[in-house]
Amino acid sequence: MPIKTRQRFVVGNWKLNGNLAANAALLEACLVAETHPRKVLGVCVPFPYFGQLQLALAKSAVRYGAQDVSRFDQGAFTGEVSAAMVAEFGCQLALVGHSERRALFGDSDEVVAEKFGRAKQAGLTPILCVGETIAEREAGITEVVVARQVTAVVQKVGIEALAGAVLAYEPVWAIGTGKTASPAQAQEVHGFLRSFVAKHAVEIGSTLPILYGGSVRKSNAAELFGQPDIDGGLVGGASLVADEFLGIWQAL
Ligand code: 13P
Repeated sequence: MPIKTRQRFVVGNWKLNGNLAANAALLEACLVAETHPRKVLGVCVPFPYFGQLQLALAKSAVRYGAQDVSRFDQGAFTGEVSAAMVAEFGCQLALVGHSERRALFGDSDEVVAEKFGRAKQAGLTPILCVGETIAEREAGITEVVVARQVTAVVQKVGIEALAGAVLAYEPVWAIGTGKTASPAQAQEVHGFLRSFVAKHAVEIGSTLPILYGGSVRKSNAAELFGQPDIDGGLVGGASLVADEFLGIWQAL
């Protein structure tokens, strides 16, 4: 199968940013994204804004979703938001395992795997984020780390659950630092991840979209997206600036 027949994505991760007025302007700009059979524009936003997105994006091809979901289904878990609740608002996407959740909120590989399972169960497309710290890269264990992060999910939910999901490689040292992985550095890990998944299931490996995240800008997007195993980007800071975000989308 030719490589470029995989689905391609540009997904914004707003993180803890936004307000109703700024969101409205940004969403208006996103509406230029037309339905495309293989290219998806998406945004992952703070939970309280789902209602706003549901209205603003109702007639558009832009997909939206959460930056996290609970590992629990329902019950006495104060402050948690379930994947099923997220899905009720027309969301289609859910990030799981973002490095900020792993590092700042204690999401272990096992917790991330549970969250992935919940997102799947609710009919969302999980975007599983993996990536190494600078110390891990310098120690030469990048592949060990990302393989461990993927394996935890495969062990919990089975390799079949990766069908219809999305993987995002986000080297922790490139997030919010302005230091992008070079296209060759990113491709190396993306290629590894694809063959790692393909070892379990050839078809899933070859069709799995793998996005790159970490200081993606409109100025570097085309070169990154031109790599054979990079199927788009997960964009933080630049997703908050309409001109940058649309420039990245146009590079897809
Ligand atoms: P930046 O694009 O701000 O580096 O963030 C990347 C990221 O964490 C997306 O999930």
